[in-house]
Amino acid sequence: MTETFDKRKTIDLRNKHIGPSCKVFFSHDPIKIVRAKGQYMFDERGERYLDCINNVAHVGHSHPDVVKAGAKQMELLNTNSRFLHDNLVQYAERLQATLPEPLSVCYFVNSGSEANDLALRLAWQYTSHKGIITLDHAYHGHVSSLIDISPYKFHQRANLEKNLSVFVAPSPDIYRGKYREDHPDPATAYSDEVRDIIDDAHKKGHRIAAFIAESLQSCGGQIIPPRGYFQKVAEHVHKAGGIFIADEVQVGFGRTGSHFWAFQLQGEDFVPDIVTMGKPIGNGHPMSCVVTTRNIAEAFMSTGMEYFNTFGGNPVSCAIGLAVLDVIQKEDLQGNATRVGSYLMQLLKQQREKHPLVGDVRGVGLFVGVELVRDRIQRIPATAEAQDVIYKLKEQRILLSTDGPHRNVLKFKPPMCFCAEDAKFIVEKIDKVLTEIEAALGLQLPVVMNGIQETYCGGKGHKHNLNRVSGQEAVESHESGPSKKQRKIKNDIK
Ligand SMILES: Cc1ncc(COP(=O)(O)O)c(C=O)c1O
Repeated sequence: MTETFDKRKTIDLRNKHIGPSCKVFFSHDPIKIVRAKGQYMFDERGERYLDCINNVAHVGHSHPDVVKAGAKQMELLNTNSRFLHDNLVQYAERLQATLPEPLSVCYFVNSGSEANDLALRLAWQYTSHKGIITLDHAYHGHVSSLIDISPYKFHQRANLEKNLSVFVAPSPDIYRGKYREDHPDPATAYSDEVRDIIDDAHKKGHRIAAFIAESLQSCGGQIIPPRGYFQKVAEHVHKAGGIFIADEVQVGFGRTGSHFWAFQLQGEDFVPDIVTMGKPIGNGHPMSCVVTTRNIAEAFMSTGMEYFNTFGGNPVSCAIGLAVLDVIQKEDLQGNATRVGSYLMQLLKQQREKHPLVGDVRGVGLFVGVELVRDRIQRIPATAEAQDVIYKLKEQRILLSTDGPHRNVLKFKPPMCFCAEDAKFIVEKIDKVLTEIEAALGLQLPVVMNGIQETYCGGKGHKHNLNRVSGQEAVESHESGPSKKQRKIKNDIK
């Protein structure tokens, strides 16, 4: 017996008792999942879905070692961290071993939001400053202090009063951002923007407490910041008396393959002052952590106020955390992320050669984004098409999501046991779906002749101009609107 109610009743009860702003995936036809194993989820009829969404089930859904570790400790004891317990110190020691030396003091909490909120408190206390610099399109959590520093959220609310101590720097996105792949030094250009924000803030009487960023922006659209950007930003922020907070809530614990922490992609010489962790840390068990330096922790202590957290660091959470670290190592999941991630990237890049809708393929390890565009030259976001892709994949029993400011980036963040066959399977399906959508829209690949690119901006079924473009400039000029067939596909997408 895996369900208590039939699906209709579950939907009705949810509509009645659960807050309407808590959304479900695929709201037109939500999925009821009753069990999961590895990288697969199963609905109430036993249908199997390939899960490319759940970065929380890091070492695989319901991993037996993790389940056993939690159950065993639960049988014995669960209590708060005011009692001495070896799980807490053992886990802190194991976690520290994955980080650069100065990051040696842990605070255990229960969610990514709690971790980031505490990180802000540490920064405010340590620096005695108030200003926070965040990246455009960033999301750092759902509590009030974090909505204030999450443009991903506060941009959705025109009437939301912006916190005047929060400053938004451009996202270091070299595909769609202010400085792109053709810029000679995007790391410096983007970090100079942060320097200018600091200068401007100083002129207005603000003082900077921290710069916070995900080591790879996830909700922001699977962005890989140019190497060296964090070092330069840290230099400006430190000079202003602030600290650097790396949010690893989505991207930590070996997802990038080559490194355990995504900030390490920036180079050995970069060490943040605070690292926040969440999602994958407990493989679905709600736990999270803030790791910082001794100096910052001492400054927090100097207030004289105790830090107490009822559930943070309890023996069950720590047993689970230890089991997750063991599985990552035992099953070489970082190696798997490197191997399968590069295979997936290779397959997706081949799709870029074939499909005009694929504007950019970027990623590292099992953190991959495919940005869909209507027009490669102007990079017009293919938002509706991206939604169509994920709905069509769902029909093929594949769970994938979209993200980014235009919701046009297909976002891959599967459990780390995702394998080569899964990669091949999903790309074959994407190939089919894109072929279908492009045929309906009449999209074709741009033609390159004599170094000059000629691109079709419209398609079959309606007149279009052939724009002759070179470099970045192009003007889309439709003579007529979309055909009936195109309109139908657009309406279906809604
Ligand atoms: C980058 C990042 N930071 C923080 C959070 C907040 O974590 P939680 O939902 O566990 O509070 C999220 C959640 O999606 C996130 O993506």
